[in-house]
Amino acid sequence: MTSTYDTLHQRLQAAFDAVEPGADPVLRTSERSDYQSNGVMALAKRAGRAPREVAAEIVRHADLDGIATVEIAGPGFLNLTLAPTLLQHQLSALLDDDRLGQVAATTPKTVVIDYSAPNVAKEMHVGNLRSTVIGDALARMYRFAGHEVIARNHVGDWGTPFAMLIEHLVDESSDHGAKELSIKDLDGFYKAARVKFDADESFKDRSRRRVVALQSGDPDTLRLWRAIVDQSIDYLNLVYVDLGIALDAKDVVGESHYNDMLAGVVADLDHAGLLVESGGARCVFPPGFTNRDGDPLPLIVQKSDEGFGYAASDLAAVRDRVDHLHADEILYVVGVPQAQHLEMVYAVARMAGWLPDRVRCEHVTFGNVLGTDRKMFKSRSGETVKLASLLSEAVERADAALRERNTDLDDTARMALAVQISRAAIKYADLSTDRQHDYVFDLDRMIAFEGDTGPYLQYAYARLRSIFRRLGAPWSPQGVAFSLGTSQERDLALGLLAFPEAFDAALVSLQPHRLCVYLFDLAQRLTAFYDACPVLTSEGDVREQRFALCDLAARTLATGLSVLGIEAPEQM
Ligand code: ARG
Repeated sequence: MTSTYDTLHQRLQAAFDAVEPGADPVLRTSERSDYQSNGVMALAKRAGRAPREVAAEIVRHADLDGIATVEIAGPGFLNLTLAPTLLQHQLSALLDDDRLGQVAATTPKTVVIDYSAPNVAKEMHVGNLRSTVIGDALARMYRFAGHEVIARNHVGDWGTPFAMLIEHLVDESSDHGAKELSIKDLDGFYKAARVKFDADESFKDRSRRRVVALQSGDPDTLRLWRAIVDQSIDYLNLVYVDLGIALDAKDVVGESHYNDMLAGVVADLDHAGLLVESGGARCVFPPGFTNRDGDPLPLIVQKSDEGFGYAASDLAAVRDRVDHLHADEILYVVGVPQAQHLEMVYAVARMAGWLPDRVRCEHVTFGNVLGTDRKMFKSRSGETVKLASLLSEAVERADAALRERNTDLDDTARMALAVQISRAAIKYADLSTDRQHDYVFDLDRMIAFEGDTGPYLQYAYARLRSIFRRLGAPWSPQGVAFSLGTSQERDLALGLLAFPEAFDAALVSLQPHRLCVYLFDLAQRLTAFYDACPVLTSEGDVREQRFALCDLAARTLATGLSVLGIEAPEQM
């Protein structure tokens, strides 16, 4: 189906084209009417004409019969009110469309999304939350839009700290005579290794020798390294499962994956005449990057000790993603502190000819997670907070909230629901703020069933489902006549019809919060609708129409939540 917005846009575009080919109608939803077209003023200015006169000309050209009525307002706004025939037609089409009016991409793109990417051998902490949640939402949104998404969990699984961890693992395993190498507590393991490293000279020496062994590919060392990485990744996967993140072992393609390509990166940069020796290190100086004193900034590809750095693996990753994955777009959902690093990586990759202009690279940045004191979120003892403990606390609170509501669920069902609610609370709080902004991590507010929260939207869905449960028989739409007799029904209908443009706007701007704003608005329209329009006790066509609106609302909420990575339980 053609969405309501697109239908209106096409008609207006034709009218604008008649006055000035290609002029933008600037069509938006509006408080004053259903939609407003604001493109007249700019057009009139370009033409040196009176705006209201241009507006009148557009209106004359616009074929809006059965589509909308139009009124010229103020300096030349076109206020558009959708016609009943259009509403009837669009709502009926929506009932038959599982995409709810959103049109799947006609030329699907291959989109590589680099997200989550914790450093392994450490527990996932709150600093890993935003990349994980935002990246996952974007991946789902792109998939829904019909694109092919390749997730890349670019974990930090290589480098000198691993030498220390390997030595510690060797000690631990022989101390306890354990055949199987096992790390139960990642953070504890890491800290213990660190303490030993700082205190024990012989341990430090062994670790240094281990660095050499690791870099030269000594099989025994690699086996131990693999054991540590594998266990960390098993653990990561548990957190992803707990949080409902669509990442698994096959998406883990970390720094180590690019090892074999690093020598080639350096050799090819050298061939291209881009490498410069600086302080013993091999660097590229992409134009336009300078430090505070105005001196050119290097991207260090190979350090003076011959070791390859973080930049080298990122360059290799770009080549891999372009050449082997055939990426049309690469999104990096990575913290702001790495902005310059990434810009330099793209610049060098473009200089080397590895990143054609047609491939879009975008750094998807995000703000910090703050505590209720508005400082960086920390535990009471001042440590970074583990994601696993945050999640279990959220589940407990959600469970407590459910007990208070006196649901008739048994313990198992209530617990399962508490898990779904807690994930929704955490993800929605993260996704519903403009991602560039910081947000306060406040479980009490996030888990509330009232207000702009994930559980509130879940509840809005569950309430709709309960109406259908109470009906007692399956409902299916049959020639529903949408007469939309009340303003609340009409407002709800307009909200439902606006899903495609809300989704598209969120996708194009890589701003999941726009979709959250839309869903919250839809839930509020629903509340107003319930207050004014009884569903089960109404009769005849009115009842059919109300059921149809409820059905569409439930599907829209469930779809919107699911593309954000949030589940919609049937009952709450
Ligand atoms: N592991 C890195 C960190 O924790 C993030 C990796 C981001 N992705 C990339 N391709 N550099 O800071």
